[in-house]
Amino acid sequence: MPSEQAAIVGAGQTRFGALREGPRAMLREAVDAAFASVDRGIDHREVEEAYLGTLGFNGWQIGNVSAVLAEEARLEGAPVTRVENACASAGFALRTGIQAIESGQRSAVLVVGLEKMTDAPSRRRRYWLGVSGDTEWERLAGLTFAGVYGLLASRHMHEFGTPREALAEVAVKNHAHALLNPKAQFRKAITREEVLSSPRVADPLGLLDCCPVTDGAAALLLTSASRARRYTDSPVLIVGSGAGSDSLAVQDRASLTSLAATRRAAEEAFRRSPWDRTQLSFAELHDCFTIAELLAIEDLGLAPPGGAAAMTLAHETALGGRLPVNPDGGLKAKGHPIGATGASQAAEVFLQLRGQAEKRQVPAAARALTQNVGGSGASATVTLFEAS
Ligand code: COA
Repeated sequence: MPSEQAAIVGAGQTRFGALREGPRAMLREAVDAAFASVDRGIDHREVEEAYLGTLGFNGWQIGNVSAVLAEEARLEGAPVTRVENACASAGFALRTGIQAIESGQRSAVLVVGLEKMTDAPSRRRRYWLGVSGDTEWERLAGLTFAGVYGLLASRHMHEFGTPREALAEVAVKNHAHALLNPKAQFRKAITREEVLSSPRVADPLGLLDCCPVTDGAAALLLTSASRARRYTDSPVLIVGSGAGSDSLAVQDRASLTSLAATRRAAEEAFRRSPWDRTQLSFAELHDCFTIAELLAIEDLGLAPPGGAAAMTLAHETALGGRLPVNPDGGLKAKGHPIGATGASQAAEVFLQLRGQAEKRQVPAAARALTQNVGGSGASATVTLFEAS
């Protein structure tokens, strides 16, 4: 058992979308927002270590981006470690921060996620979106991320009879949620018919089944739970953290209808949690493509295999439903700045569990889960949170 419990005392993020600001200004904006959100304030010098999740899209962030964060966060000598795990970079940065607190080595840390994607020309985007896939065979054969998730969707439809409309409904719901989120990239309602008739990207997935290319940054301030009340009367407690991996190449996996990395991460996270899956108030899931949300619901044990489609079509995962999923619009509509997503999911949990999510507030939100996937399922983190 950990010697300490971790808690979030502050969180902030930039708007998501095509931002004029460069990565340095984005880091500063997210970090400043996190510090400003701490009810009784926290001095920058109290942060003992920082972890930065970023893929390094377009090469900009490959250099010493950790040093840039140290400057923009005014850390005055505290170490910064960059964590890279494709689209789960910030999920793993958060996990590293949690472990630093739980081990008793640190009592206040900063976790940040960052990606600047839209300034890359489209050929470069395709290159950078490909670097997290299997470069031995699958990428050489032309398989893109949308291609991988297209395969998973086809197999899911074949094995479970999953209706195409259920995939479309994920996009319709997440766009409806994003309409309520001022930070979201797409604030535009869409219909099921529009999703079904959108230009085909990778069969059966169309343009409106895909997450977009996004700029964004998010920051979280974590302390030990025992220290958290110095800073706020309502810290968000972290009650479970798990991670898992699987083969990079999809062809080497045992199943095409489930991500083993998510199942492993969930098993570890729930092993320690004081409550179980039936007690969740809402979940922030990695819906990079519409099929990914259905896979996540099933892999996390929130529905039986093949059961997520019916749950979605019955609007149980919409705001107002039994288990809202992605109240902030998810990757699909809030946007997916690769290395920032895991931190942004936790920033949403911070607002929701403190009753500060305004128009998209989940009523009586008390317990939440985030799931962040690297690439097409080579890695995943699951984190469990509780209101204090
Ligand atoms: N959802 C909704 N609308 C989208 C969109 C998306 N995912 N992507 C682009 N659009 C819209 C744009 O806003 C634009 O609208 P406008 O004409 O009204 O301004 C229009 O579609 C064309 O945009 P463009 O950027 O030229 O599209 P594109 O064809 O270059 O890219 C995708 C579309 C789907 C290929 C691209 O968004 C993509 O690669 N997404 C997946 C990213 C990814 O793989 N991430 C990692 C996941 S693991």
